[in-house]
Amino acid sequence: MRRKLAAGNWKMNGTAADLHQIDALAARHPVPSVDVLVCPPATLLARMAGAVADTAITVGGQDCHQEASGAHTGDISAQMLAAAGATFVILGHSERRTDHNESDALVAAKTAAALAAGLDPIVCVGESLEEREGGRTLEVIGRQLDGSVPDGVPAARLVVAYEPVWAIGTGRTPTIQQIEEVHRFLRKRLTERLDQQARSVRLLYGGSVKAGNAADIFAVPEVDGALVGGASLKAEEFSPIIAALEQAR
Ligand code: PGA
Repeated sequence: MRRKLAAGNWKMNGTAADLHQIDALAARHPVPSVDVLVCPPATLLARMAGAVADTAITVGGQDCHQEASGAHTGDISAQMLAAAGATFVILGHSERRTDHNESDALVAAKTAAALAAGLDPIVCVGESLEEREGGRTLEVIGRQLDGSVPDGVPAARLVVAYEPVWAIGTGRTPTIQQIEEVHRFLRKRLTERLDQQARSVRLLYGGSVKAGNAADIFAVPEVDGALVGGASLKAEEFSPIIAALEQAR
């Protein structure tokens, strides 16, 4: 019912010299049985969209402003991302929440803006190490989820990524049981709000996903795919993750 999604987040990495990676990825996955998305820096979005135009791969943004246009130097609107070829946008990533002080309310406003512009939002939530060790993981994630997802969201277009802050870029991953606990909690919390529609929301895990742990993570109930940072930069590292997702049941 839910199509699986392998999403790559290039973060602040990559120039035109790296676009061959997307060609290589497309060549390895001409007809993927899962959705494959790459979110490059905004400077590469239009060129990457052109490069994947005749392939099954789609491209997305890493953030957007909550307004459609205006005097916001350095910002990019959801409409602009869509016009450049994006179909998705990552919102509320922990690096945005930390580096740019993004609140749940701001992420909700951005999510509404993305939906209005025709982009499907990937809303990120996740606890810090201190919050996990203090036993507050579900409380924090519940609050982030409630506050970051706007009312009236079309469930089939919503993607939620569980990304424990302490697992991002660290090589550390939660146990399978910890991932399962959070993903089951997310589904339950979404069901309280969206009723049966919640079944259409795709739930991704993110944080140090790589070829060596992907199959185990994808076997976890309620995990519909991954948001991959470092390992998405090179086709030869992202490709086996996509393959593992294709093989997951
Ligand atoms: P990572 O990043 O795969 O490099 O840990 C994941 C993310 O931040 O989306």
